[in-house]
Amino acid sequence: MRLEYAEQAKPRGLAEAFTIGRDFLAGEPCALVLGDNMFHGQDLTRVLTRAKEKVECHGGAVVFGYPVQDARAFGVVEFDQNHRVVGIEEKPEVPKSNYAVPGLYFYDGQVSDIAANVKPSARGELEITSINNAYLDQGQLSVELMGRGMAWLDTGTPEGLLKAAEYVEVVQSRQGYYIACLEEIAYRRGFIDHNQLHELGEALKKTAYGKYLLNVANEAKRG
Ligand code: G1P
Repeated sequence: MRLEYAEQAKPRGLAEAFTIGRDFLAGEPCALVLGDNMFHGQDLTRVLTRAKEKVECHGGAVVFGYPVQDARAFGVVEFDQNHRVVGIEEKPEVPKSNYAVPGLYFYDGQVSDIAANVKPSARGELEITSINNAYLDQGQLSVELMGRGMAWLDTGTPEGLLKAAEYVEVVQSRQGYYIACLEEIAYRRGFIDHNQLHELGEALKKTAYGKYLLNVANEAKRG
């Protein structure tokens, strides 16, 4: 896996990711995930695969709607009487639904051009919500609702970070499986083989994380 980084020199808003990353994207479909958002759930891989395939095959954009108790801090979906999406509002004082838009977006190759035309909002940011509304105006936005079985946590505040840590601790200590252990995922998906997983575990074997990797490798060997 090769990771590349580009800096956003000033906090001018999420939409700028697509103009900063224009050459990297080269007009191809892409996904954006915010570093302070956490997703977990049985269905997640299927949801992501479906969104990716939709954008690749049919173009347009796929975003999600997730029910929250207080949607005021988010982009919020507005529906008409027929449950059709008619708009997304960024941080509304009076949300028109309790469906927040999480920080996980799939776009087709137009996104850099759309982003280049976005104007700063009242809070002075190039809003991702403006991009989503541009797709909606073109009739090319799908909003997929995430159900109760999915956890979406926002770790952008100390309270949010603590809640996410508690969630991870509860699930991991109960099940004995790690959440988002990249080495394990790579192994189970066939990106690395058993020996590579073992080596990665050996290098970290003084830590609980390394021991976990070795356990996964040994269990796999036992079949
Ligand atoms: C951003 C987006 C907002 C989205 C949220 C998800 O908010 O602007 O639409 O619902 O991420 O975490 P911000 O992080 O800028 O407050």
